[in-house]
Amino acid sequence: MNIIEVENYEELSIVGAEIISGRVKSQPHLTMGFATGGTPVGTYRELISDHSTKKTSYKNVTAFNLDEYLGLSGDHPNSYCHFMKEHLFQHIDIHSTSTFIPNGLAENPLEECRRYEELIEEKGGIDLQLLGIGFNGHIGFNEPYTSFSSRTHIVDLALSTRKANARYFNSIDDVPSQAVTMGIGTIMESREILLLISGAGKQAALSRLLDGDVNEEFPASALLSHSAVTIVADAAALGTRG
Ligand code: F6R
Repeated sequence: MNIIEVENYEELSIVGAEIISGRVKSQPHLTMGFATGGTPVGTYRELISDHSTKKTSYKNVTAFNLDEYLGLSGDHPNSYCHFMKEHLFQHIDIHSTSTFIPNGLAENPLEECRRYEELIEEKGGIDLQLLGIGFNGHIGFNEPYTSFSSRTHIVDLALSTRKANARYFNSIDDVPSQAVTMGIGTIMESREILLLISGAGKQAALSRLLDGDVNEEFPASALLSHSAVTIVADAAALGTRG
């Protein structure tokens, strides 16, 4: 595991974007795995700025997102589909037909999970997966005790996750209780993983990850067995470990 220590969120966003745009430049047909949430927003802002000033092109990039709420249409302002358009896709030259995210309104959610897995395989797998981490160590929406061999599946969201995400909704009651997420097994098949961790609130999760105990109780610990993980963490997240 390669750890890049940075001062603050601003620097984390710049470094995260440099890594991604660097891969896109060296491999224009990159298949990229994207995440939502607060952490990557700055990175996406930097990617947009890089795209407009340095003309890094995404026209041959394929994008898969980690997860989507069940019950929200792609047009819903709180859907992850909407999030990605607003924070990144509509500002760069990626083809909308090359961006994939689970359909939160699929009539048959189990079939949707199978379809998503097949699509990732059909496109040759994910070259670089961007991740954030939940307070409880979740990656994607894989909550504690999710099998490390899990594939794309339906999850019941932990109350702590719904509370953490309630900031984007009117109230916690509006936060969907289920989501579709790539499984840990799916994420682990990515050829390279970039994990961004920012803020004092993530200190305990990062510390537990760095302790090195691989345990399904702590989903992110699966990453300890991956051969190409880069963590970019800021001073607040590193705490005394920095
Ligand atoms: C988002 C996702 C989640 C987030 C995690 C951290 O697509 O899969 O695992 O990365 O909940 O969220 P933030 O960045 O808001 O702290």
